[in-house]
Amino acid sequence: MSFEIDAYLRPHILKMPAYEPILPYDVVSQELNIPMEGIVKLDANENPYGPLPEVPERLAALGNLHIYPDPESRRVRDMLADYHQISTDNIVIGAGADELIDLIMRLVIDPGDVLINCPPTFGMYAFDGTLNNARVLNVPRLLNYSLELDGIAQAVIDFRPKLIYLATPNNPDGSLLSRETIEALLALPLLVVLDEAYINFSKQPEGWIQEVENYQNLIVLRTFSKWAGLAGLRIGYGVFPTNFVPRLMAAKQPYNISVVAEEAACTTLRTIHKVDRMTELIIAERGRLQDRLQAISWLEPYPSQANFILCRVLDRDAATVKMKLREQGILIRHFNTPGLTDHIRVSIGKPGDSDRLISALIKME
Ligand SMILES: Cc1ncc(COP(=O)(O)O)c(C=O)c1O
Repeated sequence: MSFEIDAYLRPHILKMPAYEPILPYDVVSQELNIPMEGIVKLDANENPYGPLPEVPERLAALGNLHIYPDPESRRVRDMLADYHQISTDNIVIGAGADELIDLIMRLVIDPGDVLINCPPTFGMYAFDGTLNNARVLNVPRLLNYSLELDGIAQAVIDFRPKLIYLATPNNPDGSLLSRETIEALLALPLLVVLDEAYINFSKQPEGWIQEVENYQNLIVLRTFSKWAGLAGLRIGYGVFPTNFVPRLMAAKQPYNISVVAEEAACTTLRTIHKVDRMTELIIAERGRLQDRLQAISWLEPYPSQANFILCRVLDRDAATVKMKLREQGILIRHFNTPGLTDHIRVSIGKPGDSDRLISALIKME
């Protein structure tokens, strides 16, 4: 019997382009024949300092790994409530902010419902929108990456979208949305999801979490991936209007957060002052790298409030620059998407990482 699997799949899934993930460290190391320690990884906005040493110590001592985790992740939610001075009842934990980006759509989107995406931005909003059979309506950012507010307001009238996702600071350019812009968006009849994955590196690290209680349509997402160095453990959180939380809790996978991830997050929150120190190092290095990139005649770096810097590449092919760096074990990001093909994005590493990057770029002069 011949069995045609495609005939059984949902039609919109067949049309979906695959997400292009970055290659794992060890695979790149093998491909390039360079040991992992020799690779400078500046392509995924990870924290070069990794977790605090207390985290692996605590994880090594962890018992009861044969027992399922708490479906309500009560310990870390209580600690986050304390940290942000909000109620535990407003917090939901996800396997990274990524899980929450998708979970919100699962609860909100019926097939064909509209969500607004403002590219260039984090690719998962459009990806999860397509996966959830939403109609993803792009309202592109202006040339300086600010939002086209009139276009968004018009789209709200014309298409009655249910959701808008906005990263602040935005990935890939690192710009922060202003208070006036966010207030204007919140006045529109749609759910506003502010993705604050990088907010700790910005000049307004308090972000919008405290404001959730003042609006019925505001959701704020955060992650332990970037700021706390836990990207590999997959843990993030969202702050939601109170009446949305029981719905999310009812719909999420019951054991989405592993015992290990929850413990790592709790340990991080107990030693938060050390994380803040790491953040300061990264912010200082961002300033230093910005100046050095600026000094390269064929690069135009954008100011950034995040742990990466986007640069326009002049007079040469950005994809080739990325490839040449890769051959030397220096990994950066290039995007094959409209408006970004002549750009590269570099994450902030340790000072030694910047040194290697800059000397390789200088040799390309
Ligand atoms: C804007 C933004 N949000 C969320 C994420 C993903 O966060 P997490 O690792 O918590 O899933 C990223 C990762 O690159 C990002 O750039």
